[in-house]
Amino acid sequence: MGRIFIILLAFLLIKSLSAYNIGLGRADITGPSVEIAFMGYAQLNQRGQGIHTRLYARTFIVEDERQNRIVFVSVDAGMITHVVKRNVIRELQKKFGATYRFDNVMISGTHTHSGPAGFHQFVLYDLTAMGFVEETFYAMVRGITQSIINAHNNMVEGRIFLSETEIFDANINRSPLAYENNPDEEKAQYRDNVDKTLFQLRFMDKQNKKILGAFNWFAVHATSMNNTNKFISSDNVGYASMLLEKEYNYDSMVGKGSFVGAFCSANLGDVSPNIMGPKCLSTGLPCDPLTSKCPNKDVCVASGPGRNIYESTRIIGSRIYKGASKLLQVKGGREVTGPLSFVHQFIDMPKQTGVYFNPKLRGLQNYTGCYPAMGYSFAAGTTDGPGAFDFAQGTTSENAFWNAVRDFIAEPSIQDIACHGSKPILIATGRAVYPYLWQPSVVPLQIFAIGDLLMFGLPGEFTTMAGRRLKNEIQLFAKSRSYEFNTILCGLSNIYTSYITTPEEYEIQRYEGASTIFGPHTLTIYINRFIKLLDAMLRGAAVDPGPMPIDQDSKQISLVTKVYYDGHAIGSGFGYVVTQPKKSYRRGQIVTCKFVAGNPRNNFMTDSSYFFVERLVSNGEWQMVATDADWETKFKWTRLSMILGRSEIEFMWEIPESTPSGEYRVRHQGYYQYILGGVYYYQGSTEHFNIFDDNNLRRRNL
Ligand SMILES: *[C@@H]1O[C@H](CO)[C@@H](O)[C@H](O)[C@H]1NC(C)=O
Ligand SMILES: *[C@@H]1O[C@H](CO)[C@@H](O)[C@H](O)[C@H]1NC(C)=O
Repeated sequence: MGRIFIILLAFLLIKSLSAYNIGLGRADITGPSVEIAFMGYAQLNQRGQGIHTRLYARTFIVEDERQNRIVFVSVDAGMITHVVKRNVIRELQKKFGATYRFDNVMISGTHTHSGPAGFHQFVLYDLTAMGFVEETFYAMVRGITQSIINAHNNMVEGRIFLSETEIFDANINRSPLAYENNPDEEKAQYRDNVDKTLFQLRFMDKQNKKILGAFNWFAVHATSMNNTNKFISSDNVGYASMLLEKEYNYDSMVGKGSFVGAFCSANLGDVSPNIMGPKCLSTGLPCDPLTSKCPNKDVCVASGPGRNIYESTRIIGSRIYKGASKLLQVKGGREVTGPLSFVHQFIDMPKQTGVYFNPKLRGLQNYTGCYPAMGYSFAAGTTDGPGAFDFAQGTTSENAFWNAVRDFIAEPSIQDIACHGSKPILIATGRAVYPYLWQPSVVPLQIFAIGDLLMFGLPGEFTTMAGRRLKNEIQLFAKSRSYEFNTILCGLSNIYTSYITTPEEYEIQRYEGASTIFGPHTLTIYINRFIKLLDAMLRGAAVDPGPMPIDQDSKQISLVTKVYYDGHAIGSGFGYVVTQPKKSYRRGQIVTCKFVAGNPRNNFMTDSSYFFVERLVSNGEWQMVATDADWETKFKWTRLSMILGRSEIEFMWEIPESTPSGEYRVRHQGYYQYILGGVYYYQGSTEHFNIFDDNNLRRRNL
């Protein structure tokens, strides 16, 4: 009897451990869509002119039966910064007390390069935005917080499954020469020089019937849109999310509906979506593999697989989506069960020391973390987005002129120069303090465990092999403690510290090595500290929270001009249609129209839209067909006169093949800044136009 009771108890225990409370949420984080520089390519002239697709934060919250909670957010943003996370936590604590904290919230950027900049507090990363941009920052903080609140309010009992698939035609290595410098026996463990595996967490309801949502991780740069793009875009992974959410929220508009589908960043440091590879722009010839240079100062850029950046984004996004969608259809994989744990620690990187085995010297050597610095090859940019000056990747020697410029900003010490090894220092960011610090030194590390699944919050862009090495070392350590885990790498989480290569890749000083800011042993330090944290987590030991990153709030400078006022010509007020659409269209054609507009920065139309395509339905009402978040729509804002504050917006809608025939209109809404103060709502609609079935149109045209 007693034995049966124990078996029953054990059974109940296991059973109950597989039940979690799960909450999923999504919210719009789209900030200023015009006039502000984009974050990613560091191009001063890549400033927003409108929206192609909106940006969202997507959240899952999981709670176990001991009421432990973890929160993971994937954000359509270049990366996440400490100050963004800090303010999100502040907002959440106002509402929920100590439920959400630094240690149980992980926020990860998808790494789109087509979102507004200015949400860092370090000079180097806000440089192209001309400083801190409150509009970008608060839109992100508000949206991320809202997505967590939405998830918090949606908690239901549910189950979690982990599955994986391979996607072969969506990514390539953009620094293969650096990858090649890794040890042969390590490379021999892998078929490809980038990770092809997509990991998926599937969230199911209690009965395992209804799919609540899916979070997917796949290593690829969100750089299908190149540095000539001026429309806000969530890029390839954002498009994959739109497709997956459309599939499960089939009667909702983009960004709405209860199913949440996220595509999150992983170890994408050296991974490009431009799979036709790098070529010299004007000749189409191959570039030099080390320097990525072309003859006659031609530019070396990677592109593809489409004919232009829109097609490439669509193709890469669709391929990633298809992998995830198939996994959801077969509902395979294994169930994730067991208690939740989490651990978080701030570490001061330049203070980290240790001993490592140097295979070249066949002996032990001391290492130390360096004060942050960027190498010469950083300024060369990448084949996804080349730099502005004549710098080459693979640069391991210095130049007197640039050293003089460097020393003018901040002079590296002799120790700095030695510490960074094969990296010639172009900017001694860790020493530069004018007008405030240029790059962070204190870095948060974070691990979540959902049963035997580990999620690592990576503080930057790990290269393929850096991520694999971390995973392997973690597995080895876990084995030594008789544990076995699956691991998911969550890229660009909680803070941004540029790149993390292996020490071997670092030697080659491609862009990624030159941007590994704490020196050649950055990865070694992270591996050691992650193992220590995991050890503490497994033992249930308390960890020292570490030093809080410095607060530079009061020192922020912004050179971005605000919107002073909007104006319009006499007789044509805001919302007036300057150019009407044509009377009729066929599917596949592009509807265009133009409105007198206010500056979109007056109001971001969060979780709403600047434009609605509407169809007249039988009862005389207008039904929403598309918003500015749809892939098929795009708007372009143009300033006509600075002095008179006049501007126009052109709206474009490529009519999808599935569009029913009927009578349509385009409605525009926005806010204008009144010259004597105040921001006011306006709207306007076009004349009606018809969409015909092809046959009808042909008949009419005859
Ligand atoms: C960016 O993409 C556009 C459109 O596909 C192309 O014309 C242009 O050459 C590309 N430029 C760079 C620098 O990649
Ligand atoms: C490492 O540093 C310690 C302390 O400075 C020193 O005692 C030791 O000899 C060094 N080890 C190696 C292998 O250089």
